Formats: sequence, C-alpha cells, structure tokens
Amino acid sequence: MTIPANALELRSKIADSTLTLSLEPVSLEEPGGDQVIVAMEAAPINPSDLGLLLGPADVSTMKSSGSADRPVLTFAIPEQALPTVAARQGESMPVGNEGAGKVIAAGPDAQHLMGRTVALFGGSTYATHRVARAKDVLPLPEGASARDGAAAFVNPLTALSMVETMRMEGHKALIHTAAASNLGQMLARICRDDNVPLIGVVRSDEQAAILRDLDVKYIADSSKDDFRKTLADACALVDATLAFDAVGGSLSGELVAAMETALTRDEPYNRYGSPRHKQVYVYGMLDRSPVQVPRSVGMSWSVSGYLLPHFLAKAGPEVNKAMRERVAAELTTTFASHFTSEVSLTEALDPDNLRAYAKMATGEKYLIVPQG
Ligand SMILES: NC(=O)c1ccc[n+]([C@@H]2O[C@H](COP(=O)([O-])OP(=O)(O)OC[C@H]3O[C@@H](n4cnc5c(N)ncnc54)[C@H](OP(=O)(O)O)[C@@H]3O)[C@@H](O)[C@H]2O)c1
Repeated sequence: MTIPANALELRSKIADSTLTLSLEPVSLEEPGGDQVIVAMEAAPINPSDLGLLLGPADVSTMKSSGSADRPVLTFAIPEQALPTVAARQGESMPVGNEGAGKVIAAGPDAQHLMGRTVALFGGSTYATHRVARAKDVLPLPEGASARDGAAAFVNPLTALSMVETMRMEGHKALIHTAAASNLGQMLARICRDDNVPLIGVVRSDEQAAILRDLDVKYIADSSKDDFRKTLADACALVDATLAFDAVGGSLSGELVAAMETALTRDEPYNRYGSPRHKQVYVYGMLDRSPVQVPRSVGMSWSVSGYLLPHFLAKAGPEVNKAMRERVAAELTTTFASHFTSEVSLTEALDPDNLRAYAKMATGEKYLIVPQG
C-alpha cells in the first residue's frame, strides 16, 4: 500500500466559548528509524475520549455545517465551564486514545511489523492514519482483527491494574461502581478467573443481571431502598477496604461509609472510627458533581484520583509486560469488547450519532472505522 499524501484526523478545538469538531488534513512522510504508519481500522469511543472530544460543551446547542465529506459540528460551552478549558483555548486537538489497524509503511528498524495488524494507545486514533514507534504498538495474535484489538489498552489494562493495586496495597477484595460497564464486565471476568472477591455496584436490574451472568456474587443496586445495607453486608462478608469508583459525586462517600459500617460492626467502640484504612479511588467522572464524604466515617480513609498511566509508571516494566501479555492472550475472551454500532469518521460527526454515543449507556459502545 502506498502512503497517502494526506491523512484525515478528527480534531476538537475550543475558541472563546465555541467548541468545533472537524476533520483536518495531516501530511504523512516516509517513516524513518523505528516508525510505522498504521492505517487505522477501528477505534472505540470511550467516556475518556468524550472528555476531550466534547469537553464541557452543551450537546443541546449542537449546530451542523460543512460538507458531506468534511462535516463540521459546533457547540456552545457554558460560561461557568470556560475556566476549566482555559489551557486548551485555540488548540486544535486530535482525539482518540486507542485503536488498531494495519502497518502500511515501516522505517528500516520496524520492517518486522510491515503488514501486521497492531493495536496502539496514546492519542490521535480517530484518524485515517497514525504514525507510531514500533515499541508503542502491540502486534495482535494471528487471526485477531483490528476490531478485536481496537480496545486492547485502556479498559483491559485499567481493569487489570485494579487487581494489581489490590494486591500491592494489601487489600482482600474490590468494590467497583458502574460495574456493568465495558470495563466492569472485564473486571468481573478477571475476578472470577483469579478468585478475587468483587462487589459490583450498579443502578438498575438490567445491570445486576449482566453481573449475575458473569458470576458476580455480591451486587448492590443504588436505585434500591436497601442499597446501604446490602452494600455494607457485602463489605462485611469479603472484608472490603478498597473501592474503584467510576462515578464520583455522593457515591464515593457511600462507599467509604459502607466499608466503615462493616468494619465497626465487629470492632470495639472507638470514637475515631475503625482504625483500618479504607481507600476509594475515583477513576471516572460519570457524575460531575463534587465528590462528597459524610463526616460519620471515622478518621482512617482516603478518597483520591486514579489514572491508568500513573499506575503503569509506578508498577514498573515487569508488571507492564505481564499485563500486556495477558491482554494479548485473552483478547477475545476476558477482554472482549462488544460494539453495538460502527461509524466512519464522517458519520462520527453526524448529529444523531453524536447524541447517541455521548450518552455512554450500558452496552451501547460505538466503534469508529476510519477506513469505512
Ligand atoms: N482513570 C482511568 O485511567 C480510566 C481508564 C479507563 C476507563 N476509565 C473510566 O471507566 C469508566 C467506564 O468506562 P467504560 O468504557 O467501561 O464505560 P461504558 O461501557 O461506556 O459504560 C458506562 C457505564 O456508566 C454508567 N453510568 C453513566 N453515568 C452514570 C452515573 N451518573 N451513575 C452511575 N452510572 C453511570 C452507564 O450506565 P447507564 O446505562 O445506567 O447509564 C454505563 O454502565 C468511565 O468512567 C471511564 O472514564 C478510567
């Protein structure tokens, strides 16, 4: 395959109080050294991608313009949200955290990758083509398609990192919220296969059913009246002192409170609460309201942010390698992602499609197919 003169990249730009999405041409050069050019075939739309793609834009203000092959969408950003995006004012930002495709050109030190289907991570994947270093791509196992490998990094590695963190920090079990998400289903399979006690927090009967099908034994539904008791009872049964929370808001505090309630059931009274440390890692922003913790949870707790790249930097090369090898080996089983819709780059800028994927609903994952 010859290198096209121009590639197209989906870009998100904020200028004053307007956010614009467009497809912009990028020029490609012959790759040198260990560089490869990947013709992108599949890239998932994850909640973290939406954070950059749409920022705090108000989707109800969307306006469509441009042409059929170069559509443009614009949105208003609410006045009060402007300070949160001051650092990206005027910058045309490429979007897409991860994806997969075929290597169509390779520098002299990356010839072994020529023609291989590879997954990659690190931005600019909503594009017809992406330049990468050989060491940053994951060659997919024989028979695996770009669609199989499109989501091989962000959710699989994050799910694995949760179990690693539990072991490294000496906890015995995990609580996970938004637990029927794509990532949540991967975590449920890992915990089932590795015998890790898991409490799944969901917000509907349908989500509880998804987890039951994955053999999750402890499920607490936040839409039910007995949520607090169910969660605290489960915490007591598995001795939970660690939670990964994708939601935030008041739920983070509910998790600390449930762990504290469970611990203090069997401990002698202490006016400072249980001395055992309770940790909640807030790793998503599904609820954008402030994180709140009730003051009835004693003094041994912490609620902090969590990001996969920070974990990977801390865990070191051996843990990183082992995690990547497990993802490659279990790509179509433990780490399978189910995509309900596929859109081309231009279709990703169709107003109806955008409204649908911006909802981030359970089981409605979109895949961008840039060669489509
Ligand atoms: N920190 C990191 O390094 C990192 C890495 C990877 C992923 N993440 C985060 O992991 C989370 C899951 O990602 P994913 O790709 O697996 O998501 P997904 O498959 O798109 O699913 C999103 C889930 O969140 C639920 N949800 C949405 N808003 C909610 C709310 N306000 N309260 C409770 N549940 C809500 C949805 O349920 P409904 O159908 O009920 O709306 C759905 O089950 C995201 O928050 C993402 O940002 C973080």
